[in-house]
Amino acid sequence: MAENRTAKLEFDGKTLELPILSPSLGPDVIDISKLYAQGGVFTHDPGFTSTSACESTITFIDGNKGELLHRGYPIDQLAEKSHFLEVCYLLLYGELPSVTELEDFELRVTRHTMVHEQMHNFFRGFRRDAHPMATMVGVVGAMSAFYHDSTDISDPWQREVASIRLIAKLPTIAAMAYKYSIGQPFVYPRNDCDYATNFLRMCFAVPAEEYQPDPILSRAMDRIFTLHADHEQNASTSTVRLAGSSGANPFACIAAGIACLWGPAHGGANQACLEMLQEIGTPDRIPEYIARAKDKDDPFRLMGFGHRVYKNFDPRATVMKQSADEVLDLLGIEDNPTLQVAKELERQALDDPYFTEKKLFPNVDFYSGIILEAIGFPTSMFTPIFALSRTVGWVAQWKEMIGDPAGKIGRPRQLYTGATLRDYVDIENR
Ligand code: ACO
Repeated sequence: MAENRTAKLEFDGKTLELPILSPSLGPDVIDISKLYAQGGVFTHDPGFTSTSACESTITFIDGNKGELLHRGYPIDQLAEKSHFLEVCYLLLYGELPSVTELEDFELRVTRHTMVHEQMHNFFRGFRRDAHPMATMVGVVGAMSAFYHDSTDISDPWQREVASIRLIAKLPTIAAMAYKYSIGQPFVYPRNDCDYATNFLRMCFAVPAEEYQPDPILSRAMDRIFTLHADHEQNASTSTVRLAGSSGANPFACIAAGIACLWGPAHGGANQACLEMLQEIGTPDRIPEYIARAKDKDDPFRLMGFGHRVYKNFDPRATVMKQSADEVLDLLGIEDNPTLQVAKELERQALDDPYFTEKKLFPNVDFYSGIILEAIGFPTSMFTPIFALSRTVGWVAQWKEMIGDPAGKIGRPRQLYTGATLRDYVDIENR
């Protein structure tokens, strides 16, 4: 990062010189960290659309080019040639692993997939009809009560164990949340299954009958995990970093990330998107929904369309669309009505100046729900699956933050527009 250029800021007769930092990729960054100390002013940026909050080497997005790189490698190459656990290694440790490094990592993750047996009792405290995300927020937060020996964030070994535990146990917890919600017994993980197959088995096997997914379904599941693994400083990742900046333990931080991901503008969009496609039902009703999305007086938005950062296309959506075709072809349901609506909706929206001028394109969630539904998941499991996939990204970002010597507790400022100083009025005089 070259720091010899500066930007001049002039106001109230003062001139401040602010350092310009040059990243390895992406636009330059004006360092305003000393602005308040030197100029007595804050910057105002709701939604942080122009603000970098940290230095990171993990993921890079060029929203205009539709580019997503993990440690420099493009997501389409990773989705095509790699697999989820290798991508996890890459995100966590910075480089692609050798054969032995990968074997060792896979073994470590596999050996941590069971959860403490007493956690089974913890699950039983939830209502059966609880949304699996509600259960996951609670159970992941409770991991800090079950794994005390990996909550000391000042100890690198404990940080490493906590990271592996989170990546290994999240599929087990998500599957348990699902099983609990449908009243079936929990299915223990099996060490002879790969990560994606293990998750599918924990969701769909029962003690009375084994479940062996077709390799195409396991591959599609693994791709969904890979495509959601990390996405730079999005809302849930920033939540994890902010929670972690206070020194909170990693399980508490990831629970905070899961809570943030739940919202329909973020991870909840995949559930909302499939429900919208089902509500539309038939292609002839699409114009009515497009008209509603364009109507300023109607809060309705086309779910699965638009992205804060991608302004041309979402590279993950391209891979997801291919996967949807493969899975539906395998299952012999290429005439699936939801897929027909999705394809026609995409065609009509991309032909409409409202969407093209605002650069609103299908995002990753537009097709992921179709795949998950075809595999057999109810919509309530879509966001938990996103959460378990994103856990590695949250963990990698959290570890990076803890290891950053410049790190400090996150504390945004505000533009206060409330009442000015006034005296308290006794209740009888109000
Ligand atoms: N349908 C209709 N209009 C839309 C949509 C949409 N899906 N998304 C944005 N717009 C319009 C807005 O009304 C706004 O119009 P205006 O300029 O006339 O006021 C304009 O496009 C810009 O919208 P913003 O909300 O300012 O864009 P922002 O970048 O803040 O929002 C977001 C991004 C939240 C993803 C938005 O596009 C959205 O709500 N999409 C639907 C939900 C969704 O699919 N979320 C998944 C995100 S991807 C992920 O989390 C993995």
